Amino acid sequence: MFDFSGKVALVTGAGGNLGGAVARAFYASGASVVLVNRSTERLNALYPAEQFVPARVHFAAADLADEASVTALVAGALDRFGRIDILANTVGGYRAGTPVHETPLETWDFMLTLNARTAFLISKAVIPTMLAQRYGKIVHVAARGGLTGTARHSAYAASKSAVIRLTETLAAELRHEGINVNCVLPGTIDTPQNRAEAPGADYSKWVAPEAIADVILFLASDAARAVNGAAVPVYGRS
Ligand SMILES: NC(=O)c1ccc[n+]([C@@H]2O[C@H](COP(=O)([O-])OP(=O)(O)OC[C@H]3O[C@@H](n4cnc5c(N)ncnc54)[C@H](OP(=O)(O)O)[C@@H]3O)[C@@H](O)[C@H]2O)c1
Repeated sequence: MFDFSGKVALVTGAGGNLGGAVARAFYASGASVVLVNRSTERLNALYPAEQFVPARVHFAAADLADEASVTALVAGALDRFGRIDILANTVGGYRAGTPVHETPLETWDFMLTLNARTAFLISKAVIPTMLAQRYGKIVHVAARGGLTGTARHSAYAASKSAVIRLTETLAAELRHEGINVNCVLPGTIDTPQNRAEAPGADYSKWVAPEAIADVILFLASDAARAVNGAAVPVYGRS
């Protein structure tokens, strides 16, 4: 569908459900890929050299909540490929289920760190390179649940809302620099974990990781050059 030959795409959360689909889609579209997870063991297992030509793949272990680790990640990617054209940031997660007055502070901090701090740090780290190139595409993964507060989702909703606001801010700051910044808002993704949590649900209403990856590749392509600061719903039929 897209041709990313000659482009370098840095994909965070490449060991995860959505990140895996995004990484495979960029690779299949010709990009060189920097695949990031907390440890490279999982990456080695998921992306065997027989299927993923090592010349176009760079594995990187990094904790996206740690600024020094993120700085080192970007330096390593630049050492390897010399540029970063695309950041597809899929790192994030979910914890909810209690009203605010029963929510541990630890849950609040965990959600803000996992979803918002990581998006801030990886954006901050790649932007100087994209500014120097005068070219860049950044796609974050927020969530439908970040659009509005709903009961028992305070920390999750606030943290994903922060990702949307960060996306809008970056777009406003960078739109004259050849850099597009957008985010996607998945509904429930069809993952093994979600199926285990909701046995008997109609999974066909959920959105497949590969379908979200298609939207992320569109936003990272020059076909979306006029799109900036968008939060694109990808809900499937839910
Ligand atoms: N699943 C859903 O229904 C759903 C719905 C709406 C939005 N989303 C969003 O979609 C994105 C992907 O979801 P998913 O279901 O694919 O999640 P996932 O399978 O849990 O993948 C998340 C990935 O992020 C990595 N990660 C977590 N913290 C990290 C850190 N500090 N540094 C580096 N890597 C880190 C995880 O690595 P480890 O294995 O090391 O933890 C994992 O590989 C997330 O942003 C999520 O919030 C998901």
